[in-house]
Amino acid sequence: MKTTITHIKADIGSLPGHTTVHEDVVAAVKKHVKEQGEGIIWDHHISYIGDDIQITMVHGNGINASEVHKLAWDAFKSGTDIAKKLGLYGAGQDLLKDSFSGNIKGMGPGIAEMDITPRKSEPFIVFMMDKTEPGAFNYPIFRMFADPFNTPGLVIDQNMHAGFKFEIWDIVKAKSIVLEAPEEMYDIISLIGTKGRYVIKRVYTRDDHEKLPGENVAVITTDKLSFIAGEYVGKDDPAGIVRIQSGLPASGEVMEAFTHPYLVSGWMRGSFNGPLMPVGLKNSKMSRFDGPPKVAGLGFVYKDKKLNGPVDMFDDPAFDNARQKANDVADYIRRMGPFEPHRLPEEDMEYTTLPKVLEKLSGRFTELDETGKTKSKKVSTMDVD
Ligand code: F6R
Ligand code: MG
Ligand code: MG
Repeated sequence: MKTTITHIKADIGSLPGHTTVHEDVVAAVKKHVKEQGEGIIWDHHISYIGDDIQITMVHGNGINASEVHKLAWDAFKSGTDIAKKLGLYGAGQDLLKDSFSGNIKGMGPGIAEMDITPRKSEPFIVFMMDKTEPGAFNYPIFRMFADPFNTPGLVIDQNMHAGFKFEIWDIVKAKSIVLEAPEEMYDIISLIGTKGRYVIKRVYTRDDHEKLPGENVAVITTDKLSFIAGEYVGKDDPAGIVRIQSGLPASGEVMEAFTHPYLVSGWMRGSFNGPLMPVGLKNSKMSRFDGPPKVAGLGFVYKDKKLNGPVDMFDDPAFDNARQKANDVADYIRRMGPFEPHRLPEEDMEYTTLPKVLEKLSGRFTELDETGKTKSKKVSTMDVD
């Protein structure tokens, strides 16, 4: 049966700043999806991390189904009404358009969805990140599906030995390419190492995969709010869906990719690098320096139009060392204050006063000759770069 998993998320207001959602807003979103979703979706789960509310749905309408997207949009709208009444910070901030126009893409919320051929047992994990960007998924997705030191199944499971296909998007130039691992592994890495531009959108099995040929097995939100709106309106905190087991990376291989708290961008004011801390839902608040960036994971099994679970995957002492290391890295890097590489390079910052500072100081810059001596002519801002 045609089956689609759709995950849509948005920041529609939080408290006290961008720390966490309000339970009344979550309740309003839940109520809307429960009451209005009948006849549109089969089952759903609503969750949150930091200031982002997350809706996971299963249905038979295919990807890009306007009725499914509208259901999520209207749910976020009704949550926004409550957020406004409560005076929550940034109420409705990710809903960039006034009215729904057929497809939620480009309207603000992040979306990840895939059509699947359900297996006898269809296990998958939804990962939700806050205070970072879609490229934050590049490193763990690569490790899950291409790195045998993370995923030994790539070497010892006959069904995975051929490797996987990676669909990579250039989110600056709006282009995509499909590359295959392991043959093109170095090409894949040369792109996705530039994580602010080249992002893994989907992973597919090979066409000759014995159990699940040519199937989409992972998908990540790639929405860039700052590009959509033309100016900074909030972070494009990403989410992703990863199918697991039986010829795909095992649950534990997928989770293993998060045991190293690697550095991601998007911390404080969308302008700082910081370690990605794996957390259980009870620890998904963003209190320290609006972070540190966090990832939560929900494990589901899908069967006969029903979602079983979820399991709060990082709520396990096995991730305590990663959390401790993330705190140590946070202490270390925070000592750098507003200096790079804690602060992002100028072109990647969501907030910057630099153009105004340069304008103010423009009359005070003097041009230097090749020996470092002052030339007489003052330079204008246009000459300063
Ligand atoms: C939001 C975020 C925060 C804000 C910061 C400043 O997701 O990342 O770090 O950028 O709290 O917010 P404003 O400018 O709204 O006061
Ligand atoms: Mg957020
Ligand atoms: Mg936010």
